Amino acid sequence: MQSCLPFSVAPCLLAVFVSLIALTTSATPRHVYLTWQGDTSRTITVNYQTLEPTETSTVYYDTKPRNGRHADYRYTATGSAHQIPGLADGRKIHWVELTKLTPGKTYYLIAGDLQHGFTAERKFRTVPAGSQSLRFVVGGDMGISSDGADLLQQSAKLSPAFGVIGGDIAYANDALTNYTRWDAWLDHWETNMVTPAGYTIPMVLAIGNHEVRGGTSPYMTNAQFFFRYFAQDHERSYCTRTFGKNVAMYLLDTGHISPHGGEQAAWLDAQFTAQRNVPHKFAVYHVPLYPSVRGYDGGGSAAGRKAWLPLFDQHHLTTAFEHHDHAFKRTHLLRENKYDPGGTLYLGDGCWGMPARKVDLELHWYEVKSTSLQHFWCVDVSRRKVEYRAVNKAGQVFDVYPPNSAGAEAAEKIYESLTQPKPTATVTPAAP
Ligand SMILES: [Fe+2]
Ligand SMILES: [Fe+2]
Repeated sequence: MQSCLPFSVAPCLLAVFVSLIALTTSATPRHVYLTWQGDTSRTITVNYQTLEPTETSTVYYDTKPRNGRHADYRYTATGSAHQIPGLADGRKIHWVELTKLTPGKTYYLIAGDLQHGFTAERKFRTVPAGSQSLRFVVGGDMGISSDGADLLQQSAKLSPAFGVIGGDIAYANDALTNYTRWDAWLDHWETNMVTPAGYTIPMVLAIGNHEVRGGTSPYMTNAQFFFRYFAQDHERSYCTRTFGKNVAMYLLDTGHISPHGGEQAAWLDAQFTAQRNVPHKFAVYHVPLYPSVRGYDGGGSAAGRKAWLPLFDQHHLTTAFEHHDHAFKRTHLLRENKYDPGGTLYLGDGCWGMPARKVDLELHWYEVKSTSLQHFWCVDVSRRKVEYRAVNKAGQVFDVYPPNSAGAEAAEKIYESLTQPKPTATVTPAAP
């Protein structure tokens, strides 16, 4: 080993200094990201991870920036930490829920402790509690490619209040050896999902087959990264969230941990009833009921239509965001499994980073559009209406719905230029 002799004091001091910096850097929390366990206007859960044997889980926060000086923050909140059994680095996942927040307000926070270090200061905004306009982004099937990072950057540019992922997140299949995929995915989100004004964008997640060992299991312990990395719901693989007075969202499980029917369907029925006065209801789930690539009679799709279509129709679901097929699609409005101007819109199909799969040149009876394009959806909601825009990784809006919304014509031209050859409508546009 090289020793620090008098003639090399300067390089040695430099080495010690660099080591100290490295030590400090590596000791700070490995990740920090935001989820909700309940009220989206008055709470937020700060998830952060540490690689050291930390004993406390603490967030310092304030309504003013404090530049990371922990003693200057007016509020602190403590939570709990847990681990993933068998994960070699023994990391701790900390969940600290901030409560009694003010709706529509900006907060600044740091997480960590004095001994091991803090995260850099981040700011976020609680969701307004009233009928204010709201924007969110949604998509699925992301993975850890640079395409996903590019699409996240485009998402953040639009300053959404939150981002929703409809399953197939890091493609880690709940394997312990794939933990670095989760690290890469979280790095992508933390780095890119910051708005131009500097707001960290919270995430809302639904489960997909690639979050579960084997794709399907009755045990939550076979999707432990999904349930232990993200503080959302501790008891079920599906949950609901409301955002202000205009939006109710149902994050559903397309049979990966919980079957579509039975308890989940009964729960969904009860939630729809409880939120019957919310004007816009969105379902987000993984396997499409109206697939763009896979077969219409595929098991997951058929089971979804059997268990959920009667509920979607009865309770007037506004829009279902579907994923899993890695393509782009927009359907007609559908009710009772046929066209109906008062029906539900189905948007998909999960291509927020994964390569786009080829779609058939002939459209399915339920599709208005279907093509092989990576994208996410940007959704603008007000009391009276909802507008949907599909955005690609170059930031181009290539589909707008409804067609009388701003930018729809320009989007149509972009869609034409991006979609070659153009799919054709089916000769018999009738539901089976
Ligand atoms: Fe996928
Ligand atoms: Fe999938």
